[in-house]
Amino acid sequence: MKLKNIAIDGPAGAGKSTIARRVAAELNLIYVDTGAMYRAIALYMIRQNIRPEETAKVESVLPDVQVRIAYQDGEQQVFLGEENVSGLIRTPEISAGASAFATIGSVRRKLVAMQQELAKETAVVMDGRDIGTTVLPDAYLKVYLTASVEVRAKRRMAELAAKGQEVDLHAVEEDIRARDYQDMHREESPLRKADDAHEVDTSDLSIEEVTEAILALYQEGN
Ligand code: DC
Repeated sequence: MKLKNIAIDGPAGAGKSTIARRVAAELNLIYVDTGAMYRAIALYMIRQNIRPEETAKVESVLPDVQVRIAYQDGEQQVFLGEENVSGLIRTPEISAGASAFATIGSVRRKLVAMQQELAKETAVVMDGRDIGTTVLPDAYLKVYLTASVEVRAKRRMAELAAKGQEVDLHAVEEDIRARDYQDMHREESPLRKADDAHEVDTSDLSIEEVTEAILALYQEGN
């Protein structure tokens, strides 16, 4: 039987992870956060003092990078080897690094292959930038979430504040604009809406409203 996977893409702060987690819980599917995998690779490279421009160095160490995801109490955890790095990858430095290392083709190929394997084993709700276009082109339902830069920056700030990280709204907006540009203009599988994806602007919608809209699309057979 073909698995009914859901692909959720969109720019930083559009609400992908919150919504994907809810939808997965409602439908009893596994939530896969692919951004966490790119973040783990960025952490590895930063620890090795390797910069994103040093493509040859990135490629030479890449086979040694053991990224793995696992679930604890239903929450995805990301590992580098045996180390659970989930608590270390949500900083502005790692956000920028993940976006930069994600422009490198060999990094993408390694992670896309892993993501495709995961979605073969069990039905997933997977979020990222290239899920509907590249990772799961045959997904049962594709959603492209957007929101204005201002709304996304406010959400990101609230998220960081909840973790005790104080940041300036203007700086967050600038980070988001830079990341949007990089994610949308890279050569390999840039962020874009798949032709058959449903676009949902979440700027003025609550989490419940967006979740309901996606569940309705899923139930209707999209
Ligand atoms: O979703 P996120 O903010 O955790 O993702 C961090 C960065 O990783 C994002 O700016 C671009 C990259 N990424 C990607 O290129 N492809 C994905 N499927 C997921 C994330």
